[in-house]
Amino acid sequence: MKNSNPAELAELLRRTQAAAALTGAGISVESGIPSFRGAHGLWTRYNPMEYAHIDAFLSNPAKVWRMLLELDATIRQARPNPAHYALAELEKMGKLKGIITQNVDNLHQEAGSRNVIEFHGNARRFVCLRCRRTIDPATLDFSHVPLYCSCGGLIKPDIVFFGEEIPPAANRAAFDLAESCDLMLVIGTSAAVMPANILPKAAKNHGAIIVEINLEPTELTRRFTDYFLEGSAGQILTEAVALLAS
Ligand code: APR
Repeated sequence: MKNSNPAELAELLRRTQAAAALTGAGISVESGIPSFRGAHGLWTRYNPMEYAHIDAFLSNPAKVWRMLLELDATIRQARPNPAHYALAELEKMGKLKGIITQNVDNLHQEAGSRNVIEFHGNARRFVCLRCRRTIDPATLDFSHVPLYCSCGGLIKPDIVFFGEEIPPAANRAAFDLAESCDLMLVIGTSAAVMPANILPKAAKNHGAIIVEINLEPTELTRRFTDYFLEGSAGQILTEAVALLAS
């Protein structure tokens, strides 16, 4: 692993034909969404096994909705930040083939990225657990949770809870992209959660260069990362993309 900088990242991006990005909560911190495991993270206030496990949601939906409403309020006020826009620009330049995001905040899509693989779903979508139909959030009254579908089923944000599988189509697309890219940007993730944290290893096993952008080293850094850029995603990506475009 080598400590790197935006100028070197611009050179790596200049040479890549098919980059991929794996993003985590850290890329959205500059949009006002605290990371999960950081100082003010959601998991420092809510035990994830008690509030973010599918069994908890099914057995006590009213309790889990307390956490979900806080997450929803945070996401609603968030807007894409320079890091999201830099990745959208890399896609427009034909450098970035796609983003695999663990985030459910829809900010990559709002920043204009087109190929976004929602590995953990999307909190802007809602689904009935009985009839499986997708429900327009505009028709939902969040002042009266839990929410139930007209079929009587429980409505859930379309996000992957602990204890649930990754949506098969997203899982397949993510591993296809990881195994076909020649460079993977791993941005703002602690790499604490499987199977997302297997993706950099899959990319590396298929010959990709691993470039990690984070405020601090993670459990990936020592084992898989080739170039480590310490700092904020917004500042590093904006500088690297500007150098690449100049
Ligand atoms: N720029 C770059 N990295 C940052 C920034 C920033 N501005 N701010 C924080 N980070 C880094 C932190 O150092 C940390 O390594 O982002 C990472 C955030 O880690 P987590 O809070 O664990 O979030 P994430 O890795 O996305 O969690 C993965 O766990 O709880 C589940 O489903 C949830 O998708 C989530 C998954």
